Amino acid sequence: MSGPSLAGRLALVTGASRGLGEAVARRFWEAGASLLLVSRREADVRRVAESLPPRSGQTATGAGVDLSQSDISPADRLLPVLDGFGRPLDILVNNAGVQGPIGPLSSAGPTWAGWVETIRVNLLAPARLIADLAPRMADGGVIINVAGGGATGPRPNFSAYAASKTAIVRLTECVAEELRGRRIRVLALAPGVLPTAMLREVAAAGAEAAGEREVASARRALEANDATALDRAARCAVWMASDAAAGITGRLISAVWDPWPTLGDRAGEIGQSDLYTLRRIVPRDRGLDWGDPVDSGTATRS
Ligand SMILES: NC(=O)c1ccc[n+]([C@@H]2O[C@H](COP(=O)([O-])OP(=O)(O)OC[C@H]3O[C@@H](n4cnc5c(N)ncnc54)[C@H](OP(=O)(O)O)[C@@H]3O)[C@@H](O)[C@H]2O)c1
Repeated sequence: MSGPSLAGRLALVTGASRGLGEAVARRFWEAGASLLLVSRREADVRRVAESLPPRSGQTATGAGVDLSQSDISPADRLLPVLDGFGRPLDILVNNAGVQGPIGPLSSAGPTWAGWVETIRVNLLAPARLIADLAPRMADGGVIINVAGGGATGPRPNFSAYAASKTAIVRLTECVAEELRGRRIRVLALAPGVLPTAMLREVAAAGAEAAGEREVASARRALEANDATALDRAARCAVWMASDAAAGITGRLISAVWDPWPTLGDRAGEIGQSDLYTLRRIVPRDRGLDWGDPVDSGTATRS
């Protein structure tokens, strides 16, 4: 096997029954990791686990958990299964996600229940999994939170999805600092446009709800059905989880637009900077001098 190794590591991947989660599971397996795969339908993740080619010293299984039930800790179901592996968890991939309601927030289109469910699955569940599982993770472990469209710029008609994905990037930055002392790295992955069930929802929603640009982009990606897009994002996840990304934490990395295979060489430089983070842009950042801040004498910069 070429590429970064995850030999001997134990990884939990949510949303692994199909799409990106399944692609990540397959690449992690190839890189040497044992796997606990999670989605609502246990039969589906078990089928993925059972389809992996046998590899000496590695085991994979699946567990069914509905991550929209944020009042119930998913860890209640997952900890006993994790115990069965006989080693601490090394890698947590918060990949499960839903598109949520499509259409203007103020229109009759998006249902409030759908808005809330999106925040539950895309934000609260990852936060809860980190809260409950990080204390049980091995020092030096890695948490990967899958971000998505709308995290770094406005995405009209996808307010729940975009808000959840922006929040998970900030969650990544916060938790990265909190877990620095245990050398647990926390990264957000922007996987790019992927031909999955999620994109089919965008195409089916139509231009009136989703917007013409969104529907055209979704249709293009679905027609191209480019399997390399999924694999590129999965390989980026392997890189993040491996020692090749040592020293890089609290950052949002794009599988498509960033030169991630070589970023490990720049870990020091990245750590000293605000590169690959979410920040507010002010006139000074664009070379504009719009005057001094008001009453800045006693203020501290945040
Ligand atoms: N597709 C894209 O263009 C794109 C772009 C950027 C980011 N992303 C992100 O990539 C990640 C994977 O998306 P995908 O495109 O692979 O979507 P997908 O094919 O729809 O897969 C979503 C996965 O999440 C699981 N899931 C959904 N709701 C769940 C719940 N309540 N509890 C547990 N599991 C649940 C699904 O399994 P069950 O239905 O069996 O539960 C499935 O395994 C998501 O975080 C998404 O936001 C996707």
